[in-house]
Amino acid sequence: MTMSLLVDQASHLRSLARQSRATARRRATVIAVTSGKGGVGKSNVAVNLAVTLARAGKSVVLLDADLGLANADVLCGVDLPANLSHVIARKKELRDVMVPGPGGFRLVGGASGLARMADLSDADRQRLVDAMAELEAQADVILIDTGAGIGPNVLTFTRAADHVLVVTTPEPTAVTDAYAVVKVIARQDGRDPEAYGTDPDGLGDGYQNAARRVSLVVNQARSPAEAKLVYDRIAGVARQFLGATLHDAGSVPLDDQVPVSVRRRIPFAMAAPRSAAAQAIAQLAARLTTGVATADESGFFRQMGQWLRKK
Ligand SMILES: Nc1ncnc2c1ncn2[C@@H]1O[C@H](COP(=O)(O)OP(=O)(O)OP(=O)(O)O)[C@@H](O)[C@H]1O
Ligand SMILES: [Mg+2]
Repeated sequence: MTMSLLVDQASHLRSLARQSRATARRRATVIAVTSGKGGVGKSNVAVNLAVTLARAGKSVVLLDADLGLANADVLCGVDLPANLSHVIARKKELRDVMVPGPGGFRLVGGASGLARMADLSDADRQRLVDAMAELEAQADVILIDTGAGIGPNVLTFTRAADHVLVVTTPEPTAVTDAYAVVKVIARQDGRDPEAYGTDPDGLGDGYQNAARRVSLVVNQARSPAEAKLVYDRIAGVARQFLGATLHDAGSVPLDDQVPVSVRRRIPFAMAAPRSAAAQAIAQLAARLTTGVATADESGFFRQMGQWLRKK
């Protein structure tokens, strides 16, 4: 598929999303967790962030949008009676497929083996976007685990997000693929001026998506210094070659508690709250809601934090 076709599809979805927002007043902040390379830790970051934000009193929905290899339900140890594919197929309403997750967040399970988003019809897309708009009115934060890569599924969800968290590990292959994701997102933004403006949907509701934030999380870091090197490298290249700002969302250390909790099907933020990984996720959650990460920049997180605290 050509890049322009991807961009067209994304713009189309964006305009569908705007139509939906005209009827459903925007409320939640939408955070997409994505990566270039698979297996870098997206689902673990998304699930444990959901647990941590929910325990801090936020109303959180985690949407497992990895339409090929969904597994957030496995990480959470919950059984899904139905999933997103049933919503798209109009067999279920979103509220019927939402199940309680650990720590109090709500999970919308993904569909394993669902046809790629590229194969969905316009009506299917509208259905999915309407379902997301419905979620926006019911939560403070919507986390989306997008699955890996730069395919149309993933880009559709990063497009709909206010904030994209790109997860990588320090491995050179993961770093290269993370840069590829940052590049595609930067191009999307550059080619779609509709994404810019302080209140693009004209509802005057404090919609902060002047331009989407794109931040890097370095997972499985052996030290903070290693994570910093990875961040500096990708952010430097993004600035130099794309003119794009990549924000530093911090890092999560390589921690044995992660695979242990995966095997137990209990998120490490619950099973091992004192582990280094859980503490790093707590820092990430705090940054997302208090403005520490970008306090010296446009104040997006600060505003978002104030806004979340009002809830
Ligand atoms: N911080 C960490 N420390 C140690 N191991 C980790 C860490 N993060 C992830 N892992 C390991 O990597 C595996 C893959 O993680 P996860 O399923 O979250 O990746 P993913 O990016 O969602 O993968 P996919 O692309 O297949 O969806 C985990 O099962 C765990 O064993
Ligand atoms: Mg995953």
